[in-house]
Amino acid sequence: MESFSTLIRTASREQHEEVRGSTFMSDLLGHKLGVDAFARYTEQLWFVYGALESGAERLAGDPVAGPFVRPELFRMASLEQDLEYLRGPGWRSGVSALPATLEYARRISDCAHTWPAGYVAHHYTRYLGDLSGGQIIRDTAERTWGFPKKGDGVRFYVFEEIPNPAAFKRGYWELLDAVPGDELERQRIVSECKRAYALNNAVFQALGEEFPLSA
Ligand code: HEM
Repeated sequence: MESFSTLIRTASREQHEEVRGSTFMSDLLGHKLGVDAFARYTEQLWFVYGALESGAERLAGDPVAGPFVRPELFRMASLEQDLEYLRGPGWRSGVSALPATLEYARRISDCAHTWPAGYVAHHYTRYLGDLSGGQIIRDTAERTWGFPKKGDGVRFYVFEEIPNPAAFKRGYWELLDAVPGDELERQRIVSECKRAYALNNAVFQALGEEFPLSA
């Protein structure tokens, strides 16, 4: 039988390509947007990780989600350093969540409160993505806007405490394979992962509308 980690990865492949090819991401990776767009995106991540990591605290001892809660993944401190750099010391008073971001963060919190396995789907979709494609985004951001390599502005993408991301991902897939639950529950988790991608896509859509390319 196919392992659960393979299942979730294969089942979400199409949606991964969709978010990857979204107008906002393509423009960002195509060096077409100003640093303001990148800062706005970083702001949205701050709201999303706020939900994810306050959920982590609540779920650290949970038998299903607990094994996934690993401090070396936590991104809030890095995001705050990046925002201070991108927006200046008063950044907190200026940040705002797009409606799509609020919806995404709300769904993560709902899962954290009511369905730990659903929370795992969100955890997977974000952190494994950051460890993978996130590195491409970091590299592009450094080159486009001249941020110091792996420094201020892109600290979110730097996992100081994970020196070997490939090995970390292998361990993570093993954790996924060990998630308890029958076939139905696994299908529900896969659906939640797809929902997570859709929520990300909606944020990109909104960002794309806020930062259209002046044709
Ligand atoms: C332009 C943006 C992106 C690029 C270039 C990109 C690229 C990649 C690449 C190269 C991998 C590694 C695939 C592998 O190891 O076989 C990956 C994995 C992944 N990406 Fe993305 N990605 C992007 C955006 C996203 C977004 C927005 C999300 C979700 C929020 C995401 C979620 C994931 C996940 C969950 C994985 C891990 C799959 C697994 O190994 O189980 N990616 N991505």
